[in-house]
Amino acid sequence: MLNAAETGKFISAKRALEFVQPDMKLGLGTGSTAAWLVKLLADAKSNNGLQFSAAATSSVTTQLAESLGIKIHALDDIGQLDLAIDGADEFDPDLNLIKGGGGALLQEKIVETAADQLVIITDASKQVQHLGAFDLPVEVVKFGWQTTQRLIADVLKTADVDGQTITRRGGDNPFVTDEGHFILDLRLKKIGNPAALATALTSIAGVVETGLFLDMTTAIVVGDGNGLARVQH
Ligand code: A5P
Repeated sequence: MLNAAETGKFISAKRALEFVQPDMKLGLGTGSTAAWLVKLLADAKSNNGLQFSAAATSSVTTQLAESLGIKIHALDDIGQLDLAIDGADEFDPDLNLIKGGGGALLQEKIVETAADQLVIITDASKQVQHLGAFDLPVEVVKFGWQTTQRLIADVLKTADVDGQTITRRGGDNPFVTDEGHFILDLRLKKIGNPAALATALTSIAGVVETGLFLDMTTAIVVGDGNGLARVQH
């Protein structure tokens, strides 16, 4: 028996299967909601013979998918994808997102930029009027990362954003991404102009990518604890 939160995640993943057509090239997201999707795709493959090829957005998703009998291809071997399906940490009325709570934002952005459609699977708790209540993950290279952190603080001051930069931990040490970088989580509360902030942050040399996924989403499937899902375009 699933609790309400897991039911919402499961239902959104199940509804998102409607976007999957036979022989599609798929991008598989990362996180607990995307994990449901991977399990459902594995079921559809073994029980209904659904054929597809897939690239993954993290080592965690690769391991899960392969453990369930889904072969994961390198993105460069597949090329352009038909559809990527992933979770999110926040979404606003324009379907802009904050992602990266699971630390996979860089591979997620690369894979999802390479997809014709991006379908986000989530539950209503992630819906906000303005992005920023969830700390914004920013992936930075290790070299000079504290200097990069200071430059980020300067950008926030210049943009008149009242924010704090927190180094993501993985136990006693900083969290390290699949690409060997660190993550700084920016506690901003509310992001007035997400596009301007993304541009300012990514112009800093040590910043690799931000968790702002803007103008990328084609549909959001929102599941709820009662087992219902709605689709927003
Ligand atoms: C992974 O880095 C994130 O972008 C996830 O997509 C996001 O954190 C959503 O995860 P859940 O589905 O576990 O909430």
